Amino acid sequence: MTIDILTLFPNMYQGIFDESIIKRAIDEKRVEINIHNFRDYTLDPHKKVDDTPYGGGAGMVLTCQPIFDCVKSLRREDSIVILMTPDGEVYKQKRAYELSKCGHLILICGHYEGFDERIRSICDMEISIGDYVLTGGELASMVLVDSIVRLMPGVIEEDSHVNDSFNNNLLDYPTYTKPRVYEGMEVPEVLLSGDHKKIEEYRREMSLQRTKERRPDLLEK
Ligand SMILES: C[S@@+](CC[C@H](N)C(=O)[O-])C[C@H]1O[C@@H](n2cnc3c(N)ncnc32)[C@H](O)[C@@H]1O
Repeated sequence: MTIDILTLFPNMYQGIFDESIIKRAIDEKRVEINIHNFRDYTLDPHKKVDDTPYGGGAGMVLTCQPIFDCVKSLRREDSIVILMTPDGEVYKQKRAYELSKCGHLILICGHYEGFDERIRSICDMEISIGDYVLTGGELASMVLVDSIVRLMPGVIEEDSHVNDSFNNNLLDYPTYTKPRVYEGMEVPEVLLSGDHKKIEEYRREMSLQRTKERRPDLLEK
């Protein structure tokens, strides 16, 4: 998969993809991540990429031309162009799975007051990472990349994410490791039993219980 990210602040990405699982996926050539400063595409002699909003109001608005031209230069037949925006579809694990099967993603990060409305016309999808407003789409794009890349075949063991929270509309079951007792808190006996059927039943039960307590809305689905 190739992921192209369009931003005005490429330095924000320093380090984020140079660690852990994402770095390994890049090193193993499972994913290629390119950061593009769309200021490099502006035709304005002063390198301007934003302007005041028509009709008045606070803040600056990203103009169409640099983003249109940058997307045009990157678009392939299999591209999915995604706009990071607080009024987009709220991002869910199901969407992460779908996107992990794509060949090419182009992520557009807004900034300042936002972007010219006409930029939506070149996007296939609009995604929000939650009901709050960030200063820019950069953090949102990082959330997308991280959640998508870990689901790509071979990046982590399939077993590691099949029981992840939100799969089958359930939250994950609780996990424990050594020691057996820590500050008086004991590991549930069943996990030490070696009885795989019982362990599976216990985990399923805990997963259901946790979902009922914390996210009953998931079970309604
Ligand atoms: C300050 S915000 C603009 C907010 C805009 N005035 C509004 O209320 O919808 C600047 C940029 O940050 C990004 N952004 C902010 N919050 C986001 C969220 N929850 N999910 C995805 N992107 C977000 C978008 O790219 C947005 O264009």
